Amino acid sequence: MKHFEPIVLKTADEVAAAAAPWIVRRLEAATFEERRPSVVLAGGTTPKATYRLLEASALAWHRVDFFFGDERAVPPDHAESNFRMAKEAIADRLGGSESAGLRLVRMEADAPDMDAAARAYEALLPEVVDVLILGMGEDAHTASLFPGSPATSEHERRVVPVVGPKPPPKRLTITPRVIDAARNVLVLVTGAGKAEALARAAHGELDPTSLPIQLARRGTFYVDAAAASAL
Ligand code: 6PG
Repeated sequence: MKHFEPIVLKTADEVAAAAAPWIVRRLEAATFEERRPSVVLAGGTTPKATYRLLEASALAWHRVDFFFGDERAVPPDHAESNFRMAKEAIADRLGGSESAGLRLVRMEADAPDMDAAARAYEALLPEVVDVLILGMGEDAHTASLFPGSPATSEHERRVVPVVGPKPPPKRLTITPRVIDAARNVLVLVTGAGKAEALARAAHGELDPTSLPIQLARRGTFYVDAAAASAL
C-alpha cells in the first residue's frame, strides 16, 4: 500500500523550480480572499533553493505572513537558526522591493522558558495556514517531530518544546494538529541519504510515531531522483 505518491524530478534544482510556483499559486489564491496569506516554513538546508526562487514572482509579498515549522534553541543570528536561513533566503531578497512589509514571525526557541515561548507562538499561528512547507530527515522526522517522540501524537497543543537527536537538540516544533489543519502541504526531499526513509514512509507500515513524515502523507511530495532511488 502506498501512503503517498512522490512527484520525482531529476535534480534538487528541478525540485526547487517546481516547488516555488507551487507555493506562489496557492498564496495567490489566498490573496483573493481578502486576508493575509500564511506560510509555515521548513528549516534545514533543502528548502533554501526553493525560497530563493520566490523573489521571481510578483506576488504581493508585503501581505504574506511567514511562520516556522520548527526552530532550534539558538539566537536568530546563529548559523543553525532557521530564522536566519529564511531571512537570508527570503526576507532580505524581497525586502528591497515593496515587499518590505513582509512579516517573518520568529519562533523564540532561545527563550529561557521554552514552554511559554511555545504557547506565545501558538497564539500567533493561524489555526489554518495556507501553505505548510516541510522537509524530511534521514530518520523520517519532519519539522522537529522525531521518531518515538510523544510530540508525534500531540493533538491538543499546536507548538511544543522538544529535545531531539539532531543537533542543536533543544527545539520548538509544530505538532500534527498544524499539519492536519493546513490548507496545502508541500514536502521537499532531496539526496540519496533520504532514500531509505522515504521508501519506508511511502510503502511501509503506517506508523507516524516511527515515521513522522507520514503525518504529511496527504501533502504534495516533490523529491529528486536520488531521494526516490529506493521507491
Ligand atoms: C530542522 C528542519 C528539519 C529538516 C530536516 C531535513 O530544523 O532541522 O525543520 O525538519 O527539514 O531535518 O533537513 P535538511 O533539509 O537540512 O536535510
